[in-house]
Amino acid sequence: PPLQKYVDPLPTPATAVPDPSVYPGADYYELTMRPGSWRFHRDLGPADVWGYWATDPHSPRRPIGMGYLGPTISVNKDHPTVVKYRNHLPTTHLFQFVIDAIRNGDPQLTPTPPPPYQPMLPFPDNVNVWNVVHQHGGLTAPQSDGMPLHSFSPDGIHAESYTTLDPARVKRNEAICAYTNRERSSLLWYHDHGMGMTSLNVYAGLAGLWVVNDPADEELNLPRGEYEVPLVLQDRTFHPDGSLAYTMTLQEGEDTPVVNGKAYPYLAVEPRRYRLRLLNASNERFWRLRFAVPESLATQPSLPFWLIGTDGGFRPPLQMLNFLIGPAERYDLIVDFSQVPPGTDVTLTNYHAPVHYPGVPGAGPQISEIMQFRVAKRLSGGVDRTTPPASLKLPTVAPIAVKPDIRRRQWVVYQHKLFGTMTFNAVPFMEPSADFIEAGSSEIWEYINPNHDAHPMHVHLVNFQVLNRQPINAAAYQADYEKWIDGGRKPQDLPVLDNYLTGPPIPPEPDEAHSDKDTVKSYPETVTRIISREFTPPTETIASIPNSGTEYPATYVHHCHLLEHEDDDLMRPWDDRRPGH
Ligand code: C2O
Repeated sequence: PPLQKYVDPLPTPATAVPDPSVYPGADYYELTMRPGSWRFHRDLGPADVWGYWATDPHSPRRPIGMGYLGPTISVNKDHPTVVKYRNHLPTTHLFQFVIDAIRNGDPQLTPTPPPPYQPMLPFPDNVNVWNVVHQHGGLTAPQSDGMPLHSFSPDGIHAESYTTLDPARVKRNEAICAYTNRERSSLLWYHDHGMGMTSLNVYAGLAGLWVVNDPADEELNLPRGEYEVPLVLQDRTFHPDGSLAYTMTLQEGEDTPVVNGKAYPYLAVEPRRYRLRLLNASNERFWRLRFAVPESLATQPSLPFWLIGTDGGFRPPLQMLNFLIGPAERYDLIVDFSQVPPGTDVTLTNYHAPVHYPGVPGAGPQISEIMQFRVAKRLSGGVDRTTPPASLKLPTVAPIAVKPDIRRRQWVVYQHKLFGTMTFNAVPFMEPSADFIEAGSSEIWEYINPNHDAHPMHVHLVNFQVLNRQPINAAAYQADYEKWIDGGRKPQDLPVLDNYLTGPPIPPEPDEAHSDKDTVKSYPETVTRIISREFTPPTETIASIPNSGTEYPATYVHHCHLLEHEDDDLMRPWDDRRPGH
């Protein structure tokens, strides 16, 4: 039977407690990856899950966590953080059958192409679990950035050593990373980035929130405390006993929305303004979200709300009725529940976004309802004195200037015609970087997507803005690109994008405009152009720790944030070079 909706209250991940005494000038945390047990719904049995647990410095025997996901790391802007990650996961994977299938080339699960398109598992055959933690959206030195080749296993095998911070303290299944927190006030997140198995590790539960707070924001008078609610959106499939099923079969009706770890939760709210900070932490699902109200009330079918920020922090307030959120994107909203009569149930719905977006009509399951806000509580603490969104004076960003000599780079989303494997520019991830960027420069990147689905593209280290999009003749581009590959990739034969454009440039969507982003939707049969801020890795992260800054060349990655695509193999490294070299 289908799960009963709105019977479980929405949980909120607890906030981790820092220890300021370990590294002078920085807050220190210990996060342990551990197996655990978690109920996704009242009527589902407990599921085996993986999660992060924070050590409480005041009470070391009582770690902070809930089993699934991880505690929230809440930092003050510009005050650095050091995290020690400990890998106490089992040595057999929660989804071992997938690892076995990749190794054995099970054609049912994953058609296995020959090298060089074969995704590489960097560990010996008897090692089945490896992990690394990436702070998504962070301005982080490369050795702390948690890239796939930095994975380390619970049995103590590192693919590559990157623990440059205080190496003497590092045992073999631990990693220490340092973070600048120099981002704008924004919602970042941290998640597993294990080489070739990010999809499985995040699905098991390895993700958490990282909030960068600017003390100056207090003057903005936004909803705070219990009126500021983080929402981590995911979709999960369950076996009848309540355990997690990793099927990715796209069977209609199997997929269930999960918010902060609960299926179809509800939140009782007061008739006042709330700040909802949304993260789409799904493996592959896009959502078109709106706040539906009962038909009987509706002068319009859904509640208008205000967008006040995205991935990279605040943007000018924008009133909206719905928006499309791709995997890894964040949307910061003000929703005013005093706009409906007390007692109203407001439902967060997904308005026709299938799992592959926009997908083939009818092909994938559609989740239509996600969670409910019950305007059931009395107004406590008197009238709502938060600033009305229309009059918010938010710190915003200027458009990034396009300098005349700006460097342009093209990334073609190439799907192998026989095996389906995705790569950028038909080059597998494991090929060494061929893209060298002068530190301090800004660039225009063109994501050329000739296939039928949208891909959320994420660039490590830098924020960027959406410049424009332009439709392309995808079939012709794809055919000519394949000819170029088959013909030995002669530079003079590379298809020239200008010849395939079929319409004028389309400006950024209203929710993208005036925004700093770290993840962008690359729509099908379209070139999506972004302009980056300066590619400048931090020269120093924490004064008290030598080697916490960047050494050149500094290797980072960019990738599709459909996690199955990033694993297989839509990701490439690029290098920052020291300015002037
Ligand atoms: Cu959120 Cu490289 O990833």
